[in-house]
Amino acid sequence: MSVSTATQPFPSFQQPSADIMLTREDMNFIAKLVYDQAGIVIREHKEAMTRGRLARRVKVLGLNSVSEYCAFLKTPQAASEMTELINAVTTNHTAFFRERHHFDHLAREVMPRLIQERSGRRGRIRIWSSACSSGEEPYSIAATCRDVLGPRSDLDFRILATDIDTDILIKAEAGIYPAEQFERLPADVRGMFKFEAGASRSEVRIAEEQRRMIAFKRLNLIERWPMSGPFDIIFCRNVFIYFDTQTKASILDRFVDLLSPGGFLYLGHSESLPSPHKNLRLIGRTIYERTA
Ligand SMILES: C[S@@+](CC[C@H](N)C(=O)[O-])C[C@H]1O[C@@H](n2cnc3c(N)ncnc32)[C@H](O)[C@@H]1O
Repeated sequence: MSVSTATQPFPSFQQPSADIMLTREDMNFIAKLVYDQAGIVIREHKEAMTRGRLARRVKVLGLNSVSEYCAFLKTPQAASEMTELINAVTTNHTAFFRERHHFDHLAREVMPRLIQERSGRRGRIRIWSSACSSGEEPYSIAATCRDVLGPRSDLDFRILATDIDTDILIKAEAGIYPAEQFERLPADVRGMFKFEAGASRSEVRIAEEQRRMIAFKRLNLIERWPMSGPFDIIFCRNVFIYFDTQTKASILDRFVDLLSPGGFLYLGHSESLPSPHKNLRLIGRTIYERTA
């Protein structure tokens, strides 16, 4: 069969055909896989976005189409591809001091109380940033708390920062960011960050003294958690929007189990409890206190 070169000017050049819509069957398959693996709900109208994100994997694996990628995911050889699939579909948008009111609450209400309660006895303070993305959230927590703590060293203070996305965690742990991310911040919070000397003009690295306040780990919120707590504060911001009611309710119960009485839970700006929780009391804008 001869193919007219008038309609196919570059017949030997094969591009991954990510521009071809995912079939309903492939879309359902991906949506179920991502839901089972990460609890993330991909709705049908997100077809173009999903296709675009999977196109990266199509290219890396040398496949020709997203539909070939779906076929590959059904083979036993694809077991190790699950991490990459989840990395590809997660949305990592974040910012330093995003939703500033949480950090103001942390600095003005929570930290002074914890310091008063725990100091002198080498008391421990534990904070968990449970969907930390590229690190802007836990570094903002570290900078805020260091500012309140000052040079004191009589407290055992740690931040645990976790995310499901292994690629983004590498970035978070490195602590290297475009300098302009800090230039955009209000001067009072910008001044709370310490930077390593000798970085380039366009990039800066968070200083070791702030980086070592945080332990970064991979953790899937819908799987078993290895920590026993208790935590004084849990940040779970802008990830519930990807989960359904049942997943949110189950994670919330487990947060409550890990929070110390009087501890705080911060949710994202458009998030709320799926239903009232007997042990969580709303005390501010998306701020909940764990009742005794
Ligand atoms: C939009 S970012 C939010 C980052 C930060 N908390 C903030 O509010 O700026 C959502 C993060 O949730 C993570 N994520 C999605 N599903 C997850 C899961 N099942 N377990 C843990 N993290 C998850 C994503 O990888 C992503 O980095």
